[in-house]
Amino acid sequence: MSDSAVTGETVLIKNVLLYGEGEPTDVLLGDGVIVAIGADAGKDSGPDAEVIDAAGQILLPGFVDLHTHLREPGREDTETIDSGSAAAALGGYTAVFAMANTSPVADSVVVTDHVWRRGQEVGLVDVHPVGAVTVGLEGKQLAEMATMASGIGRVRMFSDDGHCVYDPLIMRRALEYSSSLGVLIAQHAEEPRLTVGAVAHEGPTAARLGLAGWPRAAEESIVARDALLARDAGARVHICHASTAGTVELMKWARGQGISITAEVTPHHLLLDDSRLETYDAVNKVNPPLREASDVAALRAGLAEGIIDCVATDHAPHAEQDKCCEFAAARPGMLGLETALSIVAQTMVRTGLLDWRGVARVMSERPAEIVGLDDQGRPLEVGEPANLVLIDPDAEWTVHGPDLASVAHNTPYESMTLPARVTTTILRGRITASDGQARVPARNGRG
Ligand code: DOR
Repeated sequence: MSDSAVTGETVLIKNVLLYGEGEPTDVLLGDGVIVAIGADAGKDSGPDAEVIDAAGQILLPGFVDLHTHLREPGREDTETIDSGSAAAALGGYTAVFAMANTSPVADSVVVTDHVWRRGQEVGLVDVHPVGAVTVGLEGKQLAEMATMASGIGRVRMFSDDGHCVYDPLIMRRALEYSSSLGVLIAQHAEEPRLTVGAVAHEGPTAARLGLAGWPRAAEESIVARDALLARDAGARVHICHASTAGTVELMKWARGQGISITAEVTPHHLLLDDSRLETYDAVNKVNPPLREASDVAALRAGLAEGIIDCVATDHAPHAEQDKCCEFAAARPGMLGLETALSIVAQTMVRTGLLDWRGVARVMSERPAEIVGLDDQGRPLEVGEPANLVLIDPDAEWTVHGPDLASVAHNTPYESMTLPARVTTTILRGRITASDGQARVPARNGRG
């Protein structure tokens, strides 16, 4: 279980559907855990309990994001641990993993411990630091993984995300060390020699628009290579932001060989394709790039079948000047935390590919398992940690970048009306977001 303190708050959730199934019931939370479930759950709730009428709503375990860029330290003009935590809570997340490509890079225990501590001070979501695999993300020398893993931030996932650990010997050593440390290596699969100058998916659209192409093989060749390296090292490897149909096929093959390989897909790769590039609006520039409709279909099917394990946002805030410029010069990445549930609802639930129990699996249970968090992604049962999210499946809302909690506004879903909305997020029994407002705990002095 988590080292963090539980709160003494009591919350009574009334008339809620657990996993969207069965009959509505009541759920009592206290001391950070689920205390009772059933029609009489509220009988001991006491006069101070906060009561939520959740008629028509669904209760799921809180979401876990294995791939978030919070930009602190270094680019606080685009996101901070504070603003990113608010975005996470509003998106239904109770734990996020903050990627290491900050400035300075999170390749030392000083930075990784700072990220964890700052997240705990803010108190809206557990911000787990991701440590860099290599010093400065340069791909040349392994970072001090053991020191970061044994720090206060207890780093359990390492990634050079934004860059590929492209040298096969360095990757092999990283996998060997990770296996002895019991930590996870998450690979940004991009063979850099194949993507020199690339800004868009290599295909007919990029060719017509005159944009330099990023071939599928740049991703797939690294996925295949790393599956083999993980096999030989007896290690686990996790593939960040899978984006091609070929990656789904390779995952299927590797699993069939008994290789310990897992993969995530982003909401944007589940919804958008490279036809979005027609406008040359760099809000659609992302790495890996938006692919073709056939890739989108394969990713959805792979996620439904469990070949792709989970959804991870790759929430990547960028300043206006880094996006509102010519396509080639713009930075890749898009906001994702507050819209992830709605995109999954649109692409996976409304299409019949997943039910709400399936959403719990891909947004909470599997990511928690992959990274070994034992207080997240737990069953909705008495005695379990109260890390929870309430969802209104019938809500519709229209995305407006400036209304999002992030400092940056680079959402590709601007003005889109999307289904399903997080109404309440609960971290260790305390409400962290409710009706579109993050609820900062009083103890951090900014409530
Ligand atoms: O689009 C992306 N943006 N992909 C990455 O791998 C990195 C990220 C960022 O840091 O902006």
